Amino acid sequence: MLRTTTSRPDTHRDDTKILKRSGLFLGLFWTIIPILCDHSALVGVVLHEDNPAYRLEKRGPVDPTLLARWQFGIVTVYHFLFVPLTIGLSFTVAVMQTMHYRTKDPIYRRMTKFWGKLFLINFAVGVVTGIVQEFQFGMNWSNYSRFVGDIFGAPLAIEALVAFFLESTFLGLWIFGWDKLSPKVHLLSIWLVTLGTWISAFWILLANSWMQNPVGYIINPETGRAEMESFSALVTNRSLWVHFPHTILAGLATGAAVVLAISAWHLARKQNRDLFTRSARIAAIILLIGSTGVAFSGHAQGQVMTDIQPMKMAAAEALWETEEPAAFSIFAVGNIEEGRNSINIQLPRLLSLLAENDFSSAVEGINPLQEQLVQEYGPGDYIPNVGLLYWTFRIMTGAGFVMIGIGALGLWLMRKRKIPESALFLKLAMWGIALPFIANSTGWIFTEMGRQPWSVYGVLRTADSASPVVPAGAVLFTMIGYTVIYGVLAAVDLYLMARYAKADPAEETSDADIAAAMAY
Ligand code: HEM
Repeated sequence: MLRTTTSRPDTHRDDTKILKRSGLFLGLFWTIIPILCDHSALVGVVLHEDNPAYRLEKRGPVDPTLLARWQFGIVTVYHFLFVPLTIGLSFTVAVMQTMHYRTKDPIYRRMTKFWGKLFLINFAVGVVTGIVQEFQFGMNWSNYSRFVGDIFGAPLAIEALVAFFLESTFLGLWIFGWDKLSPKVHLLSIWLVTLGTWISAFWILLANSWMQNPVGYIINPETGRAEMESFSALVTNRSLWVHFPHTILAGLATGAAVVLAISAWHLARKQNRDLFTRSARIAAIILLIGSTGVAFSGHAQGQVMTDIQPMKMAAAEALWETEEPAAFSIFAVGNIEEGRNSINIQLPRLLSLLAENDFSSAVEGINPLQEQLVQEYGPGDYIPNVGLLYWTFRIMTGAGFVMIGIGALGLWLMRKRKIPESALFLKLAMWGIALPFIANSTGWIFTEMGRQPWSVYGVLRTADSASPVVPAGAVLFTMIGYTVIYGVLAAVDLYLMARYAKADPAEETSDADIAAAMAY
């Protein structure tokens, strides 16, 4: 049985409104992103006529490759709402259970069970949304799947065999092992689940990193397919070793922001103060570590990116001509046809520092890079959607810095033991729930759109990756189907999350309740 406490209804309605508005803001944000993608003139950019990545778009509104790209974008961004939350919540729950193991304080046990339920609901929906990804590769991207199959086969098999089995087996033990397993083995189970989420992220990112920076392969001249030549080259790919920490730290920050926001909601209603103050403290620490780590790892990622995909960095900065030293752009409006900005407010030398770690080095611009790429790969337009890259990069990093601020403020209040009293902080924490989701979505949109016109950088173009025989109608049909199913899943997920997040943690949910939540 679930119970909710309802004291001081007026203030509470306001608090609930903040969380709802934050969710609404997130919804609006996702509506605006597609508009920016499609009508990029809104951000001062028009699509190139001869850009290979867009050439099929020009055929008309029902082009199959364009629809396949939209479908992939929708499915992936949706799936990635759940992934970082699973990574972050499993870690946070494991930390809370460790505190219980060490202190034997029953409040940490209730805390573990309370946040554990939210983790389970999110895990279940996340798995379902991920399965669709696999269908898409075969259905809409058969040329791509054929091309990369020999490279991705082993890493993705390891992901399924090691990570997914580790997660699922120990998650089962954790759910049903309360009071049946020894406390040590039970604690070990949740840590192994957490390890499983990290291992899973590693192998998936290994595949994505190969698309960003293909290494350790040869092209078989007979089949035209990529074949793995060195497994160790894939594992040591430098793109992987910056993507992996960035994604894991982003996950930790996401889980922490959610725990902090829900704790703030309860604290604003003055219920279960002890439990939620302690939850908020743990969350504020993880949020600060996660979001600061994300900024540092993002900086390292920017440098590797400048090396392996200089066009992505130039587009992220709307830097049309090479500058030495290069200035960082704070606000720009560009004209892609003329290859220049009409407005650009800049901070001198900062881009040199971000890209190369010194204040005076050169950063190459879009126009000279376009000429170089034509020399290297033949005629074509190698410029990605500059407006989209420029703004997604700023939204992601901006969200990151606000999250650092919320975490730091939380820690400062924590030292003075004032978290529950600070109405401003509680409101900020509630608003902050949308930030990591916005940053995660814009992060992936930036990474993937910035690689265009390639699906495998320098090797396979997006326009040559789609299935040659799947008609636009079929792609449209599955796209509508997925969107409807995802809409239903989102409603179920939000309903369950909201119901369990509002529940009174004083009342322990039984294993059967948790299993029922998953069975939904
Ligand atoms: C605060 C400063 C940040 C910086 C400097 C930064 C930097 C970057 C860069 C350079 C990339 C693209 C890498 C590439 O394409 O090679 C990226 C991608 C990404 N970022 Fe950030 N980021 C920051 C904040 C955040 C935050 C707060 C989150 C989420 C909580 C986040 C989540 C992501 C994700 C999910 C990706 C795509 C996956 C990947 O490429 O690793 N970032 N970030």
